[in-house]
Amino acid sequence: MSEPCTDLFELLQRRYSVRAFTEQVIEPELLEKIFSQAQQAPSNCNTQPWQAYVISGERCRRFAVQLSEAVAAGAPSLPDYEVTLGFFDEYRQRQVDCAFALYNSMGIERSDKLGRGAAMLRNFEFFGAPHVVFVAMPKTFGMVNALDVGIWLQTLNLVMESHGIGSCIQGALAYYPDLVRKELGLPEDDSMQILCGISFGYEDQDAAPNKTRTVRAPLAENISFFN
Ligand SMILES: Cc1cc2nc3c(=O)[nH]c(=O)nc-3n(C[C@H](O)[C@H](O)[C@H](O)COP(=O)(O)O)c2cc1C
Repeated sequence: MSEPCTDLFELLQRRYSVRAFTEQVIEPELLEKIFSQAQQAPSNCNTQPWQAYVISGERCRRFAVQLSEAVAAGAPSLPDYEVTLGFFDEYRQRQVDCAFALYNSMGIERSDKLGRGAAMLRNFEFFGAPHVVFVAMPKTFGMVNALDVGIWLQTLNLVMESHGIGSCIQGALAYYPDLVRKELGLPEDDSMQILCGISFGYEDQDAAPNKTRTVRAPLAENISFFN
């Protein structure tokens, strides 16, 4: 478990995506505190469009089994929004590097299609986490509001890290929204679109996937300064 920390720069440096967890559940008081603190995220006209569904403990593990079995059995993926990635040039290269870093830490060869498939399936097992949160916003909302949700996601991410809790934001958890709605008891034509999920809990520090580290591009590749 990481030590709690309130220094922003240290948090930014030490945070990484966690993809293996211990079974220890987070105390309900701390869970509520984390989500309360993340509520401070700013948003366009203060509309706060994030809608989050947190599933914990036994129920989380049960759903992880159900979801991953359905995915393995070939359930159709019908996301609520366009998820075509279409990476090109440096974006494609960064995606390849990121996948390589993960597979390398897990000892999976690039040619090992089965191994990569099994690693992908771990997304739907919530990487063994005792908690998962599905994140949604109204179906009629678009890019501007998705920015707000993104800001909230990073706020939540850092708040979790500051309490010594590891997490992994997962776009993959948007791929089967109907199964999520069914689990949550929401109608199929619910007014919310599921954008992503986050598996979270206390990190299993010995697990291979958690040895994965990614790097960031040199500043000039992303940022231009004008005078
Ligand atoms: C919007 C978003 C979606 C992501 N989706 C996934 C995912 O489906 N599965 C996964 O293992 N990691 C996912 N990640 C984690 C990224 O791969 C990770 O943040 C990136 O490689 C940088 O590594 P770091 O978080 O360890 O710094 C996602 C991250 C973000 C921000």
